[in-house]
Amino acid sequence: MKKVNNCILLLLIGLSLETIAFGQVSQLAIPNFSGTWRMDIERAGGVIISSYFKLHQIDTNVNGTVVINGAVELPLRKPHLDQADLVFRTAWNMDYRLHHQDEKLLVTIKHSSKGIEKAYAFRVSDSEALPPQKITLPELLAVPSNQLALTPPMGWNSWNHFAEKVNDSIVRAAADALVSTRLAAAGYSYINIDDCWQGYRDSEGNIVPNKKFPNMKALADYVHSKGLKLGIYSSPGPFTCGGYLGSLGHEEQDAKTYASWGIDYLKYDWCSASRLYSNDELQATYQKMGLALAKSGRPIVYSLCEYGMGDVWKWGPKVAANLWRTTGDIQDNWLSMSNIGFSQDRLAAYAGPGHWNDPDMLEVGNGGMTATEYSTHFSLWCLLAAPLMAGNDLQKMSPSTLEILSNSEVIAIDQDLLGKQAITIFKEGDVQILARDLKDGAKAVGLFNTGLKGQIASVSFLDLKVNGKQKIRDLWLHKDLGQFKSKFSVHVPPHGVVLIKVSPKAK
Ligand code: GLA
Repeated sequence: MKKVNNCILLLLIGLSLETIAFGQVSQLAIPNFSGTWRMDIERAGGVIISSYFKLHQIDTNVNGTVVINGAVELPLRKPHLDQADLVFRTAWNMDYRLHHQDEKLLVTIKHSSKGIEKAYAFRVSDSEALPPQKITLPELLAVPSNQLALTPPMGWNSWNHFAEKVNDSIVRAAADALVSTRLAAAGYSYINIDDCWQGYRDSEGNIVPNKKFPNMKALADYVHSKGLKLGIYSSPGPFTCGGYLGSLGHEEQDAKTYASWGIDYLKYDWCSASRLYSNDELQATYQKMGLALAKSGRPIVYSLCEYGMGDVWKWGPKVAANLWRTTGDIQDNWLSMSNIGFSQDRLAAYAGPGHWNDPDMLEVGNGGMTATEYSTHFSLWCLLAAPLMAGNDLQKMSPSTLEILSNSEVIAIDQDLLGKQAITIFKEGDVQILARDLKDGAKAVGLFNTGLKGQIASVSFLDLKVNGKQKIRDLWLHKDLGQFKSKFSVHVPPHGVVLIKVSPKAK
């Protein structure tokens, strides 16, 4: 009996322990996410990049922000608990799952482009995730023009194809290919390293490249030996968009370093500056680097990248900028490219020799569009007097990619010395016609079909503001089409273009 009682007792104790334990489990089943957590990921070049989760939890409701790469602070989208994991999205199309595990978080990130990545996040003090202090900004003034980029700069940039994979040998190979494919002869001259080259600052605060770029000066010498120029990338904030070091507080020092390496072009990307400065401070921030470049003792093309905020086209020339991005990042697809390309009209007046609107770099040859669509992309950019930065792998170009990028008659439109950006002169249904004036008195006209069916497009000489008979040449067919009296009509394939030069008939 005693034995049985003991058994019952044990059973009861066991049951009540279990009940307590279960009670606790169901309470503990909601882990405490509140607080600031740091996640370190080793990125290309052996650089550790930190992101932060700033979370606030009340019962099962969790909210907060993620400071991605220390660069941008984004709100959690639709945060909710899923089997005790915190699940949410962010604006950069990244899906997060945070799993509480022994006082740390196992973070799983699903990138729309890069696949799945896992890392741990650890609790840190709230102050660690705060951005650094902003620097005192200069009074606004007009920085004298550097007299560079009298026609839109042409070259290659690493970002659209190689992103964080860029390294010394990729850059050298791009320089080799620019020459061997004769794109250099067609006018492309800048080889631009985008994000992900930075390593650390030495004890004197000088920026040192990461291990993917063992000797930047030697790389510049190599690029120069090919008759080309070398470009580099930084940010006015503490970090670039990829989380690498920016130039905050080191503007003059960095400009001098670039000059000492032999850099010819700087793309200066807002990124983490948005955590320190308001849009009212854009001009002063960009002026600081404009002045630093002017003092560097080397001619360096100045390319602003702040996605068109604060009407940059109105003050870009005052900070000695040679070009400024007018939009967010281009994607290698028709929708992104055509949305950007057909929405630049209101900015046309701001482009001109030495200072250009930049609708972002080319995607030609990256695989997300058809050859017809890439011809449209290239034609649009040339009509828009846009900088022509090839964004593909120059070593692996299909004949059609090379043919598009090297079409000298189309490039001549882009590089026309008048520097006039095209505007839309006609739009009806899927047909859109853009035209620009050229220095020799002719007009370049693009007849575009944005639809999915072939179309006849017509341009009237009245809309084009030309009188009398006109000679028309097709710049893709490299063919004179003859003389026309009052209009020109042509069949345009879906998502395609017919690009013509309309010249007054010699008397
Ligand atoms: C931003 C820019 C891009 C590219 C990346 C690099 O998104 O707009 O062109 O430079 O940063 O991180």
